[in-house]
Amino acid sequence: MRRPSTLVEVLLVLALFGCSPWTVWGSSHCKQTNVKEIRPHSVSITEFGAVGDGITLNTKAFQNAIFYLNSFADKGGAKLFVPAGRWLTGSFDLISHLTLWLDKDAVILGSTNFDDWPVIDPLPSYGRGRELPGGRHKSLIFGRNLTDVIITGNNGTIDGQGNFWWSSFWNKTLDYTRPHLVELMNSSGVLISNLTFLNSPFWNIHPVYCSEVTVRKVTILAPLNSPNTDGIDPDSSDKVCIEDCYISTGDDLIAIKSGWDEYGISFGRPSTNIMIRRLVGRTRQSAGIAIGSEMSGGISEVHAENIHFFDSYTAIRIKTSPGRGGYVRNVFISNVTLDNVDIAIRFTGSYGDHPDDSYDPNALPVIKKITIKDVTGEKISRAGLLEGIKGDKFSDICLSNINLKVSSSFPWNCTYVEGYSEMVSPQTCEPLKDAIFPMHCADCYHLSNHLHSASDRNRG
Ligand SMILES: *[C@@H]1O[C@H](CO)[C@@H](O)[C@H](O)[C@H]1NC(C)=O
Ligand SMILES: *[C@@H]1O[C@H](CO)[C@@H](O)[C@H](O)[C@H]1NC(C)=O
Ligand SMILES: *[C@@H]1O[C@H](CO)[C@@H](O)[C@H](O)[C@H]1NC(C)=O
Ligand SMILES: *[C@@H]1O[C@H](CO)[C@@H](O)[C@H](O)[C@H]1NC(C)=O
Ligand SMILES: *[C@@H]1O[C@H](CO)[C@@H](O)[C@H](O)[C@H]1NC(C)=O
Ligand SMILES: *[C@@H]1O[C@H](CO)[C@@H](O)[C@H](O)[C@H]1NC(C)=O
Ligand SMILES: *[C@@H]1O[C@H](CO)[C@@H](O)[C@H](O)[C@H]1NC(C)=O
Repeated sequence: MRRPSTLVEVLLVLALFGCSPWTVWGSSHCKQTNVKEIRPHSVSITEFGAVGDGITLNTKAFQNAIFYLNSFADKGGAKLFVPAGRWLTGSFDLISHLTLWLDKDAVILGSTNFDDWPVIDPLPSYGRGRELPGGRHKSLIFGRNLTDVIITGNNGTIDGQGNFWWSSFWNKTLDYTRPHLVELMNSSGVLISNLTFLNSPFWNIHPVYCSEVTVRKVTILAPLNSPNTDGIDPDSSDKVCIEDCYISTGDDLIAIKSGWDEYGISFGRPSTNIMIRRLVGRTRQSAGIAIGSEMSGGISEVHAENIHFFDSYTAIRIKTSPGRGGYVRNVFISNVTLDNVDIAIRFTGSYGDHPDDSYDPNALPVIKKITIKDVTGEKISRAGLLEGIKGDKFSDICLSNINLKVSSSFPWNCTYVEGYSEMVSPQTCEPLKDAIFPMHCADCYHLSNHLHSASDRNRG
């Protein structure tokens, strides 16, 4: 329920104090990038003997085609065209200046034979595979040390046939951590667009140690009970833009990460400048937008807007734990519409889940300057479960203009958090009760602060 007179008053106060979170911030963040949409050279996967019958294994055809296209890398790059058909394959590697283009009704199918997914080294920022010690299966589509890579098409499909991996996970017969559908390591100038991702064995799209990554107009689907089928996980990466996506999977729809406990701390590569907008989705088991739980390299400057989650467990979640170290700061999430969501906002400071026993329990994460504003929701069970860490409060948590129809008689439960609020219904918890305006305007993370610090950086 909006109160226009109050809103007008607040806007006046904002204008007077010169801190206006109502400013709509520009889209420059998502303007890309050094990728070329037009390639002068093009070949079809069929020219390399591929057969699109869903039975013939085409790994060699993909590898040979891409090896051939390498000779065009310094001539504007090349396009690998995948026509309609069902193209079964194991893992293959991309190269720089390549466009992988999937036509309408083209389906790249992941092999259901473990041997077609080689085992590679664990990520240095994780120290081991995410779910099992040791190496991990390489993603279906993999790239490392690349620049100017496009994976796109006319809404073609990349189908991981994850059922076989999920069964192996459930019956505990996996030897190594499951593979992603797409993983790009240490790459820049990446565009993934106009595609459908189905049934990933594990996470769907994993940019790690990357810069300038855009994921646009993708549909990501997996059964709501499939294990760990995260949608998009920007990990120790910067300048990431995710826009106009629909994601419905068995785990977090988007999870921003930056390494795990002592391995992530010593690797020390943050995720920063992450933009998420016009995202629609649902997840019965996890969160729409998650930060963590692996955040040991630090996560900052996260902006999300125009978000719609329905039939979901949690909408916005920060997860961390003593031992993680690192930080999450300068997060700004606005214009969120929720329908039938159990927990609208959740912070968990005791997530646990450590890579091994060598983590430092005194490595406490710093969670600071989190602003969530303009949220409306129907059929919400709990508005917020905000649990910080004893002796390490999550601070400058700012909630503004939040209006939720909540069924629980304990809508908010806040421990070890502190911050401010304005126009929150149902009434917020005691530790966030102080008004944002006018006294605490500067304590909250707003766009205006962000622009200021960004221009400071550019000068410096
Ligand atoms: C990242 O890739 C660049 C080439 O693009 C290479 O020079 C550099 O050594 C790579 N770094 C790592 C850690 O792989
Ligand atoms: C990427 O760069 C790293 C560091 O220079 C190197 O060790 C690795 O072999 C490179 N990998 C590829 C696939 O080029
Ligand atoms: C792409 O295909 C998926 C189903 O495979 C469909 O749900 C989605 O609406 C399609 N997107 C576009 C833009 O046509
Ligand atoms: C576990 O699941 C995999 C994949 O479906 C199957 O190949 C394997 O036989 C199963 N093993 C057991 C012990 O059930
Ligand atoms: C993706 O599709 C949109 C239309 O929906 C089109 O404008 C855009 O050029 C396409 N992008 C690529 C890289 O093909
Ligand atoms: C808020 O987001 C919705 C989509 O979820 C969009 O339709 C609407 O225009 C946005 N409102 C503003 C003020 O940007
Ligand atoms: C609030 O959360 C704490 C843990 O953070 C829990 O012990 C307590 O039972 C919760 N209270 C309610 C009313 O849910």
